[in-house]
Amino acid sequence: MEADQLREAFINFFKSKDHAQIGSASLIPENDPTVLFTTAGMHPLVPYLLGEKHPMGKRLVDFQKCIRTGDIDEVGDYSHLTFFEMLGNWSLGDYFKKESIAFSHEFLTKHLGFTNDQLAVTAFAGEEGIPRDEETAEIWKSHGMKDEQIFFYGREDNWWGPAGVTGPCGPDTEIFYDNGQPKCGPDCGPSCHCGKYTEIWNNVFMQYFKNDKGEFEPLAQKNVDTGMGLERICCITEGKKSVYDTSLFTGIIAELEEISGRKYEGDAIRDFRIIADHLRAATFILGDGVVPAKVGQGYILRRLIRRAARNMSKLGYDEVFMDRVCAKIVDQYGDAYPELIREKDNICRNIRAEEEKFHSTLVKGLRRFNEMVANAGDAKVMDGELVFRLYDTFGFPVELTAELAAEKGLTVDMEDFQNRFRTHQEKSRAGSEQTFKGGLADNSEETTKLHTATHLLNAALRELIDPNIRQKGSNITADRLRFDFNFDRKLTPEELKSIEAFVNDAIQKDIPVVCEEMPVEDAKASGAIGVFDNKYGAIVKVYKIGDVSAELCGGPHVSHTGEIQGFKIKKEESSAAGVRRIKAVVGKF
Ligand code: ALA
Repeated sequence: MEADQLREAFINFFKSKDHAQIGSASLIPENDPTVLFTTAGMHPLVPYLLGEKHPMGKRLVDFQKCIRTGDIDEVGDYSHLTFFEMLGNWSLGDYFKKESIAFSHEFLTKHLGFTNDQLAVTAFAGEEGIPRDEETAEIWKSHGMKDEQIFFYGREDNWWGPAGVTGPCGPDTEIFYDNGQPKCGPDCGPSCHCGKYTEIWNNVFMQYFKNDKGEFEPLAQKNVDTGMGLERICCITEGKKSVYDTSLFTGIIAELEEISGRKYEGDAIRDFRIIADHLRAATFILGDGVVPAKVGQGYILRRLIRRAARNMSKLGYDEVFMDRVCAKIVDQYGDAYPELIREKDNICRNIRAEEEKFHSTLVKGLRRFNEMVANAGDAKVMDGELVFRLYDTFGFPVELTAELAAEKGLTVDMEDFQNRFRTHQEKSRAGSEQTFKGGLADNSEETTKLHTATHLLNAALRELIDPNIRQKGSNITADRLRFDFNFDRKLTPEELKSIEAFVNDAIQKDIPVVCEEMPVEDAKASGAIGVFDNKYGAIVKVYKIGDVSAELCGGPHVSHTGEIQGFKIKKEESSAAGVRRIKAVVGKF
């Protein structure tokens, strides 16, 4: 079964089990300054896992675009990816272990054609205060799984979450595909990396909340959160060895072959895979309104684009090529993710601009390299620090530096470089974990105020500057809001003053903020603004602030605008071609 059919089969199966389909949320988490990207299907659902009522009910299903950058250096092997799609189903305080396992078993055996012999499953081994999950094992046995196919593991392998430091979490049962090869040793099991077992589905029984003291409190409602990696399951159902050989990638790789004139074989395979993965991730990130930048999501985007450029250069192709590949990716994924079609022009324009910029960095880096060689005098080995600087500042991969050095009769101190590289990697890993700290859905008072202020700002821009203005990105930290919108010139100081006055006037009037749930068609007809795509006839939340603003949104918001106290614009600048950015703060001034 190919990817498009898999998405459809999964959604239809769970719809037949009374689940409502929800759309894929943005890759940029709403109201969550602690994470850069949406990393799992449950991420946008945290408030509902904690007990808030979801407008679509207690049983949900979706496919969610996700980004995980922790293993970016592993991309290019047979299975690692930065961008992936997660198929997921949820019970929000509705069914629990028995039904969840029954659904998974039925889908795998009746719809995807697995036999019990091809599966292995795990259950939580238990620890102080949390019992061994015999119940899960018994349920699996009731579906015909044998004792030797059921493995108990501890927290390391059989517990999921919280995604941050605090949040919902629980023991899980993971389902593995067993390819039938002999066990590599007596201890071989699903946690072994010999290749016999591939994880295909994770069913988390979210019944605990890890608090900031590290204690596990029982949640008010018992939830199920599942996740199945589309690329992995596709790899198995299409009978391929690598995720890169599946229908999700063949079109992209064929396009790269045509552009580069190289074949996807031998030494070139890794470069092809890195370019395909990174451009797929970049297309989706750009599609959610992010532009290349020095920090945050924009920085990750820049890194992905530059790595793709370097790898293309390794394939011997140095012309600008990415917009062509992005257009192909948009065409392939546009049906499932309509926002890509809407943003196609922006995606292609922004990637082209970044690629052109990097080409000039490459030229500067080469100049620096030549200076380094000239300064090296009689030395035969290039210092690791210089090599690392080329990597870090100019984005030169060590292989490229080594090749260039060889042409000048020099070698590279690889060991020294690797040591520096490792230290750097540990630091950046620690950095990204740091970003994750603080838990999900930071609905603190400050971010809530900033969120409502963002709606007022959006309304002010449309009211005072141009009714065609729409949101191109939003990011809220505890200290400030950042709002990107389409507009093609700098705003004048007078305009900025009038916007501030408009928002402050709304704050002064202490207008109630009211949330109404309604069918998406009604929301559209009522003139509410926001992203309407991908909602599939859904019931949506519209936050109304008197007659000032009506916007589709998940919340949370203050209950009266007066709580915001005051609003001040700190900066107005260009964010990308045709996109302006406003940073603003709230509080008493
Ligand atoms: N949230 C679970 C995961 O990401 C399903 O594996």
